[in-house]
Amino acid sequence: MKCKGLDLVRFKEAKADGMTQSRYTGPARGLHWLMAVLILLTIPAGLIMVQPGLDRSFQNWLFIYHKNVGVLLLLLIVVRLLWRLRNPPPPKPSSLTAIQVRIAELTHKAMYALLFVVPIAGYVRVKAGGFPIESLDALNIPSLVPRSEALAEVAKTVHYGFGLLLMALIAMHIGAALFHTMVKQDGVFSRMWPPVGGGTR
Ligand code: HEM
Repeated sequence: MKCKGLDLVRFKEAKADGMTQSRYTGPARGLHWLMAVLILLTIPAGLIMVQPGLDRSFQNWLFIYHKNVGVLLLLLIVVRLLWRLRNPPPPKPSSLTAIQVRIAELTHKAMYALLFVVPIAGYVRVKAGGFPIESLDALNIPSLVPRSEALAEVAKTVHYGFGLLLMALIAMHIGAALFHTMVKQDGVFSRMWPPVGGGTR
């Protein structure tokens, strides 16, 4: 009887240990899902707000949302990258082939890079164009770029072009996640799920 109780404790410990090793840390998952929700709202806001014929106050609202949440996303990606550098992700599941691992790594690296480039280009487009970013202005943070129409135009093109690339990668990323969870059911999705809790470090 005593022995069975001990076995149960050991079994639970081993299971918990296995879970902590195969899942991203709690902060990494929390940041991932918070950013996912914000990005999936920020992209449509950016696409809609530049359409002609919009109600003026709705358009202003979309611009304010897009610029300020965009800046927040830039801060969050810095925090997320710093966390990741100090807390390496769990090893990739052995069910993945070498080519799948390579594609996943490249996609993730490209998304990290674009999550820096796209909001920075958005910032430059707005500030070089002489427009406000309400949250930064309220904090009296001065513009980090000079006022220049030429610079604003370049930044606009970069923001748009790399924004499209980011959208394509996000679509691929979501497609791959759905494929793993719905078709292969190989536990890849549960490495990043649930957003909070779930027995991790
Ligand atoms: C991850 C963050 C961001 C994403 C994914 C994103 C994405 C987009 C997308 C898809 C568009 C539509 C492109 C077009 O049709 O021209 C757009 C437009 C725009 N974005 Fe962002 N954006 C982000 C951050 C920011 C930031 C931080 C700012 C400024 C503080 C900003 C300012 C703008 C502006 C001003 C436009 C309109 C461009 C124009 O026509 O001048 N964005 N964004």
